[in-house]
Amino acid sequence: MITTKTIERTAIQSWTPHSYQATNSPSGIVSSETVDKTAQLHLLTPESQKEMRNGTIPDLTKFCHDLMDLEVKGATNITPVEFSDVFDSVKKFNQVDMSRFLNNPETNHVLLRNSFLKVVLIHWPAGRWSGVHGHPNGGGMFKVIKGSLKELRYNSADPRELLTTCIYKNGSKAFIDDRLAFHNVGNPFKGSAVTLHAYLLN
Ligand SMILES: [Fe+2]
Repeated sequence: MITTKTIERTAIQSWTPHSYQATNSPSGIVSSETVDKTAQLHLLTPESQKEMRNGTIPDLTKFCHDLMDLEVKGATNITPVEFSDVFDSVKKFNQVDMSRFLNNPETNHVLLRNSFLKVVLIHWPAGRWSGVHGHPNGGGMFKVIKGSLKELRYNSADPRELLTTCIYKNGSKAFIDDRLAFHNVGNPFKGSAVTLHAYLLN
């Protein structure tokens, strides 16, 4: 049976990495309809495009496209563990970018969201915590770009039982999946923290 996801998977397999700028004038064997669909999958959210243009969030276009390119290469059964090298390409933001980002009153930024992937950039002011939540569908990876983040992992019992507590320092990466644990994360420290997240949605 041909599903919407199958069609989208076919579309991204026709994607030429980093070629979205040329999608208005496609060439070769890729039809304009396929390119449009593929470009749509690689397209950042309108909000993040606007913020990147304004400089209120750093330009992470290449990071998002590199993650989507993994989908192209992997085609099926990719796991967030394979995001690791792409996350390694993001070291830290330059001082001007970081300063502008920390002054942005918005703290949660969905950079990319399509059928396969959700990419989020988060500023955690001191004292900010998430609720306990899960990451189904294969889970995701996150990386600390600035400061430190504390994570508590729980099992799925009712009531939940604490499994582990971990502090991720600047530069650390972690993988989370409902099959491993549910978690909440936060910044109990004095300074701001910044994290970058990518989650599978299929
Ligand atoms: Fe999470």
